[in-house]
Amino acid sequence: MSEGPIPRPGIAAIRSFTPDHAKDPPPGSIRLWANESSLGPSPKAIEAYHAAAATMVRYPDGSGSAIREAIHQRYGVDPKRILMGVGSDEVLNAAVRAFAGFGDDVLAPTATFPMYRTYANAAGARPIAVRDRAFTADIDAILAAVTPATKVVIFANPNNPSGTYLPRAEVERLRAGLRADILLVIDAAYAEYVEQPDYEPGVLLADTTPNTVMSRTFSKVHGLAGLRLGWLYAAAPIIDVVGRVRSSFNVPAPAQAAGVAALADRAHQELVVAHCRRWRATLAQRLRGLGLTVSGSEGNFVTFGFDGLAGRTADAAEAYLRERKLLVRGMAPFGMPGYLRVTIGQDDEMATFMRVIEDYVHGVPPSPGERGKG
Ligand SMILES: Cc1ncc(COP(=O)(O)O)c(C=O)c1O
Repeated sequence: MSEGPIPRPGIAAIRSFTPDHAKDPPPGSIRLWANESSLGPSPKAIEAYHAAAATMVRYPDGSGSAIREAIHQRYGVDPKRILMGVGSDEVLNAAVRAFAGFGDDVLAPTATFPMYRTYANAAGARPIAVRDRAFTADIDAILAAVTPATKVVIFANPNNPSGTYLPRAEVERLRAGLRADILLVIDAAYAEYVEQPDYEPGVLLADTTPNTVMSRTFSKVHGLAGLRLGWLYAAAPIIDVVGRVRSSFNVPAPAQAAGVAALADRAHQELVVAHCRRWRATLAQRLRGLGLTVSGSEGNFVTFGFDGLAGRTADAAEAYLRERKLLVRGMAPFGMPGYLRVTIGQDDEMATFMRVIEDYVHGVPPSPGERGKG
């Protein structure tokens, strides 16, 4: 028997977070694998970040009052119901940990953001994957999977990996069908990109129910993934409880300052969203034209599968793209084996991606110059 400290149950089930796909990318690669913003942050956010660097001797504002006020101004939500986090990752994790533990179940759809499983395992709870419908949360299946052990139901809307979404009425039906002591977590990381009139990110339920939380991020439309900034929105008692679990002084002052400036730059956000919507529609249409299956595209990415194409696979396509310095992400760890996800990049990156994926589908062999390149 080995000596030394023994990790709590569940920890061994967590995959270590340096994803295999991110190891040793070929130098000069085009990164289309992490749903970052290809147009970058607002220049005003970068300026604010630099200016705030002068304050680094001090602990930051642990309550994030300025940024909560800026979120209120931008999204019209109650600043008292906001909890800031080091990315939405931190506050999602804290929410699961605060409400689920040993002997409890955390339910999530099968095609989902894999960190939800990690949060459950880290809390000592059991992650349960519920069968979904067309890679979208299936409300009836979730309600049928609830047991007395269920403490948290978590899903992304729109969904990463699939890019599909649930209309407001369906989310409300889910809430209405869940016991009051079950926390419903709606991860709306990609809310700004959605074009559907019947979509609602979760603000209304977080405002009107005592047991629903919504998370948002600055990593996508605001282009601040490297700063790690996100927030949770819920009834005050929930915010109080989750706030006890997060780290103290969690969000650095320069990140808060950049976030405030990013929120104020509406023109930049509009540019980012317009660019994304234009390209995802074009990509979806052209990928379908190649015989690929596109699952949905409400986020800043398009996810496509190879079922309809004999002799072509997601794994081989991923390798083919990588050899040509285009990094996309295989969706098996997200519950969509056989699919790849490509982030909307800049115009020239999208043109290159389309050219290369067309070459792959049409079976174009590598040019002599390309042979042997890594
Ligand atoms: C659905 C979903 N939730 C949460 C996150 C994490 O975002 P953050 O950078 O705010 O931690 C991501 C990042 O890709 C995501 O796709």
